[in-house]
Amino acid sequence: MLPACRTREMSSFKVMDVLEAAQAMEARGEHVVHLEIGEPDFDTPEPVKRAAIRAIEEGKTHYTHSLGLPELREAIAADYLARYGVDVDPARILVTSGTSPAMLLMFGALLEAGDEVIVSDPCYACYRNFIRFVDGVPVPVPVSAEDGFQLHADAVAARLTPRTRAVLVNSPANPTGTLLSAGRMAGLAGLGTLICSDEIYHGLVYEGREHSILEFTDKAFVLGGFSKLYAMTGWRLGWLVAPEPYMDCLRKAAQNLFISAGSVAQWAGLAALTQCADDVERMRRTYDERRRFMIGRLREIGFGLACEPTGAFYVLADARRWTSDSLAFAFEILAEAKVGVTPGSDFGPGGEGFIRFSYANSIENIAEGLSRVERYLASRPPRP
Ligand SMILES: Cc1ncc(COP(=O)(O)O)c(C=O)c1O
Repeated sequence: MLPACRTREMSSFKVMDVLEAAQAMEARGEHVVHLEIGEPDFDTPEPVKRAAIRAIEEGKTHYTHSLGLPELREAIAADYLARYGVDVDPARILVTSGTSPAMLLMFGALLEAGDEVIVSDPCYACYRNFIRFVDGVPVPVPVSAEDGFQLHADAVAARLTPRTRAVLVNSPANPTGTLLSAGRMAGLAGLGTLICSDEIYHGLVYEGREHSILEFTDKAFVLGGFSKLYAMTGWRLGWLVAPEPYMDCLRKAAQNLFISAGSVAQWAGLAALTQCADDVERMRRTYDERRRFMIGRLREIGFGLACEPTGAFYVLADARRWTSDSLAFAFEILAEAKVGVTPGSDFGPGGEGFIRFSYANSIENIAEGLSRVERYLASRPPRP
């Protein structure tokens, strides 16, 4: 009766553990401020909702092509051209029920058992579990706050082996909110290894600009999604851009494993791409105000920020003056200050001693949450 080790040995997603503990406190009548969740607090833009309702009324409620609606795939391709000046053939785009299934299909098509994927440490917590789920091996390469938490081609080159299949990049990144410069991306592309680029936070950039890996190489898979930029987490919609030789296998895998992404969500996604520029800009400006506020307050409280995040909606703050056990510290802050935060260790050993704060919450809630943290930490002795 033992579950397979593929799932048995999977680490839990610690942010969900914190969230579930916070929800149990709320069920007991306690008030918790949520700075742990990586989910937009905004409502989905109106044009998206209207498109979904129209799709339902018009009976567009059936399976779609396994690769996704042609209209949506063309709109995604048009978006790459408009944003980055890169030509993507819609035939290379596979629409999925969120970026997460796209990741599963990508690693499934890419990795034989024992094949290695280079990831940064820290990085998005689920990457290593996706890689292991298909019997691959995540190879962490440490990155530092002083260096913007981003991979450097030289450090990656030193970890390449005959089993290396790909290098995974994520810019803007979760949990650090930092971006890869064009130079760094070009350097990584220049290694000649396949690049898997998770571009789900594209569009949520407050200083400088983000680059698609496709500006530098065609030898790349790109993960994209609607969850973050369009506040559509619950709609479950994303996509994968893959090199042409992989498309036939990816289509077969998508047919077998998922049949198609949801039709209503796909029509809604088309409206997101074509009718929501103003909504996106409104949300982006609001995130930016919150980002500036949060950075200032975290520094006042005494958290270390060697580099300022300029994208996504996270700050990975150095808490080592208080702790070397970020998981215990996060649960302590939850219990004592009634604020949900994410332990940096969730993102790999390199995140240990750090806490991720999300600013996908109102400025009032961020202010209240950080004041609670400040009051609690003022009464708590620093590490000996
Ligand atoms: C870096 C990164 N990639 C992928 C995902 C998964 O997103 P989706 O909701 O599209 O499955 C997340 C969600 O938090 C993320 O932070």
